[in-house]
Amino acid sequence: MLVLGIETTCDETAAAVVQRAEDGRGTILSNVILSQVMEHAKFGGVVPEIAARAHVEVLDAVIAQAMDEANVTFEQLDGVAAAAGPGLIGGVIVGLTTAKSIALVRNKPLVAVNHLEAHALSARLTDNTAFPYCLFLASGGHTQILAIRGVGDYVRLGTTQDDAIGEAFDKTAKLLGLGYPGGPQVEQEATRGNPRRFPLPRPMQHRKDADFSFSGLKTALRLEAEAIAPLTDQDVSDLCASFQQAVVDVVQDRLRSGLRIFRAQYGAPTALVAAGGVAANQAIRKVLHRLAFEVGTVLVAPPMELCTDNGAMIAWAGAERLALGITDPLEVAPRARWPL
Ligand code: KG4
Ligand code: ZN
Repeated sequence: MLVLGIETTCDETAAAVVQRAEDGRGTILSNVILSQVMEHAKFGGVVPEIAARAHVEVLDAVIAQAMDEANVTFEQLDGVAAAAGPGLIGGVIVGLTTAKSIALVRNKPLVAVNHLEAHALSARLTDNTAFPYCLFLASGGHTQILAIRGVGDYVRLGTTQDDAIGEAFDKTAKLLGLGYPGGPQVEQEATRGNPRRFPLPRPMQHRKDADFSFSGLKTALRLEAEAIAPLTDQDVSDLCASFQQAVVDVVQDRLRSGLRIFRAQYGAPTALVAAGGVAANQAIRKVLHRLAFEVGTVLVAPPMELCTDNGAMIAWAGAERLALGITDPLEVAPRARWPL
């Protein structure tokens, strides 16, 4: 089964062709990603209108390149998948409408994929991970712990009550005058800093649920920074290290709780799966490894280019749905909000 996938929910214009074999194994034939990060960096974050216009400008070329690299014609496709949300609505409309046009003109089935579902299923593309597994989705827009029990069968065990984890990294970077996106810069600074210098809170720690909160941590960091301003380079490094350590401690505590809930309700998970840009953080990866070991399972962390937003995960989620005979009508609507 050959599926074209289109991703335009945020600031990446992406398209990919993925093959799903009869036995459920996946192969990525092409995976083209054009990041707009430089266009948004000067504003310190993604500007929705700029993002939507940029998708319009480059999507056709990105799709053409993905088809070309995969050496596949539109006729050979078994379906066309696009992320229909959640995300910035202008971008979602661009991607979904393009997918509808291709499906209509080429007479192919359309699959409207939930972007979060695509993150959730990508471990099956890269590692052929069996159900049920525990997913830690940690990106700029989402922080969730999910029980992935089957295609379309997702149970949310925990989520954030305020900021997303990547957003906390980005806001910290902004506050300290580091660039955008902030995660990699904060991680870099943290390697030179003292994680014990600033006593930052560990929000939600020791609660029985698996929910997160990052806004208190952000405020505490701001107050510490204001108290010692103007900041030296070492202050910035120490603030980054203290912040990252607090986040790592929070992830450890909340995910431990989430894994406990998972086991009580669904038995042992086949894996702990990490997805989203924040999963690139080495300190966070280390704690995920430890947690997986602790509960007697393995950590599956897809390679970085498949952890962050990409077209292959959309194509794959489309293929998984198509294999079950699930398709969508051309009238399907784009959705800014679409919880799993
Ligand atoms: O999944 P992603 O590429 O896009 C979405 O948000 O959907 O995630 C981007 C987020 C940003 O907030 C970025 O700062 C964060 O992931 N990030 C990191 C690291 N690399 C990216 N956060 C912490 N440490 C990193 N090394
Ligand atoms: Zn994403």
